[in-house]
Amino acid sequence: MKTLTVALPGREYDILIQRGLLAQTGERVRAVLPRARRLAVVTDSNVASLYSEAVTGSLTAAGFDCRFFIVPAGEESKNPRQLAELWEGFMDFGLTRTDGVIALGGGVVGDLAGFAAATILRGVAFVQIPTTLLAQVDSSVGGKVAIDLKHGKNLAGAFYQPRLVLMDPDTLDTLRDSTFADGMAEVVKYGCIWDAGFFDFLTARPSREELTADIEHILYTCCDIKRQVVMEDELDTGLRMILNFGHTLGHAYELAGHYTRWTHGQAVAAGMCAAAKLGVRLGVTPPDIPGRISDTCGALGLPTQITCSMEDYAAAVGLDKKGAGEDITLILLDKIGHAVPRKMPRRDLLALLEVLS
Ligand code: GLY
Repeated sequence: MKTLTVALPGREYDILIQRGLLAQTGERVRAVLPRARRLAVVTDSNVASLYSEAVTGSLTAAGFDCRFFIVPAGEESKNPRQLAELWEGFMDFGLTRTDGVIALGGGVVGDLAGFAAATILRGVAFVQIPTTLLAQVDSSVGGKVAIDLKHGKNLAGAFYQPRLVLMDPDTLDTLRDSTFADGMAEVVKYGCIWDAGFFDFLTARPSREELTADIEHILYTCCDIKRQVVMEDELDTGLRMILNFGHTLGHAYELAGHYTRWTHGQAVAAGMCAAAKLGVRLGVTPPDIPGRISDTCGALGLPTQITCSMEDYAAAVGLDKKGAGEDITLILLDKIGHAVPRKMPRRDLLALLEVLS
């Protein structure tokens, strides 16, 4: 078993990584919630059919009364109506402040269940059991929980740390190749911003088979980096911004594809390649880096370039909104393994993007 501790004052929690861990859900949750009687398990329609029996069996054996709340799979479930349905459902179930909520699934389930846990009864204990690579290396750690509004993604949310994160790498075996690659974009990002040795390790393992053989090490390394960043800047006012490497331009590509053509990971991969090119243009990034990142992403089946209109770039850098402040912070690399935030006027970034596209 690999264990990492997110040591936030008064809200410390462990991330446990082990193949087959799902079978120990009951005893692991009991260890952090000794007084809980009821657990609301939020999951989606895909994940429920795979794991509800095993998780129910384990939770029941540990003395919990659990009820499953199954939401439709997909980003559309992160909405205020679905959130209100969960709140009412938790109350129908008789959830009290000593009980808990479990998020069993990918990033959508984690964000929605986490926000429901943060807000019901002014906050009940919350456990993350991420089942996708993207959720395991990113969204399940660090406490960002949210739903989407008509005005945009993740606009209503909170920083609400889980009590425990349980990662069973076996759950990745059922992912489609494209979903696995989607998570790999964030994995590559950690190499780019923090750990050159890890970047080389990934570059040397371009196939899913090779990556899967070392998956526990990969999950541990990513979560260790995220843990360190979150411990220094939980509320995202400084260092945590480096986790946005590739995301500002990635957001433009997601917009350009109306959030259906490109997955988050695909958009982030192309966004990292574009940010590296911008960094070269700005004299921050050495010229060999865009090629190294695009080779690594390309070998994983991720796009390295996405066409995007200037309107979508403008929207992604916030130039379509009144009052979006003068400057934007773009995350650049001065070498593989080290990120540098670079503040610049939004209009200058847009002008640069026009030259590059
Ligand atoms: N996904 C970026 C963050 O947690 O800050």
